[in-house]
Amino acid sequence: MRVGILGSGLMGGKLGTIFARAGHHEVVFSYARGQEKLERLARDAGPQARASTPAEAAREADALLLAVHWSRVDDVLHRAGDLSGKVIVTCSLPMNAQDTGLVIGHTASGAEELAKKVPKARVVCAFNTVPSEVLFGVFESRDRADKPSLVYCGDDSDSKRIAAELIRDAGFDPVDAGPLRIARYTEPFALLVAQLAYEGAGGPELAYRFEWLGKGR
Ligand SMILES: NC(=O)c1ccc[n+]([C@@H]2O[C@H](COP(=O)([O-])OP(=O)(O)OC[C@H]3O[C@@H](n4cnc5c(N)ncnc54)[C@H](OP(=O)(O)O)[C@@H]3O)[C@@H](O)[C@H]2O)c1
Repeated sequence: MRVGILGSGLMGGKLGTIFARAGHHEVVFSYARGQEKLERLARDAGPQARASTPAEAAREADALLLAVHWSRVDDVLHRAGDLSGKVIVTCSLPMNAQDTGLVIGHTASGAEELAKKVPKARVVCAFNTVPSEVLFGVFESRDRADKPSLVYCGDDSDSKRIAAELIRDAGFDPVDAGPLRIARYTEPFALLVAQLAYEGAGGPELAYRFEWLGKGR
């Protein structure tokens, strides 16, 4: 696939690198505060990757990863231009400016609000329940039989199939959690995972206890 990265920070930078190394046809890193950073990411990710603008990342993309702070969503969408028909896989959580809480919740979700902002695009919510620190480790052990599971949700079956492929390429076992409105539950869950990963005594490994619990370990 041709994958456009909208937001090349901790999540976008790592996932873009992983998609390029997984053998995708093209990965375009876009949207950072400096062009130099985008170019370094592209160099490190390999020959399939390049750096460009959000509009260029979106133009030919089969899938777009949206990985920006909630406060930057409108800006990056504006720069990306016409997203009609595009598959947008969002890991962006609707956090407040201080990153202390969700600004949308209970009866709506960031993913659903995003879908309203780009009604002609096809939005899938994925990758937000995993701390960026574990992404390379999961990718490097992608051949193991018991992969960690990763939930995704969306309303369009073709775009969900594409998201599931990207999730699998990153080394996870994709778990279809249902329609996009399920993001109302996965987004607060993502905060719980982050709380445990960043603030718990055990660090990111704690996030995996949820996977293990389900398998009775
Ligand atoms: N990090 C995690 O573990 C994690 C896990 C789950 C979900 N999420 C969600 O994923 C989304 C992205 O998180 P992240 O940790 O990857 O954030 P991040 O590292 O801050 O990445 C955001 C990207 O946006 C760019 N950016 C910010 N302001 C900009 C501006 N004014 N102009 C151009 N580019 C700008 C940043 O540029 P620079 O690179 O130059 O800073 C960076 O590349 C967030 O919604 C977060 O809630 C994150």
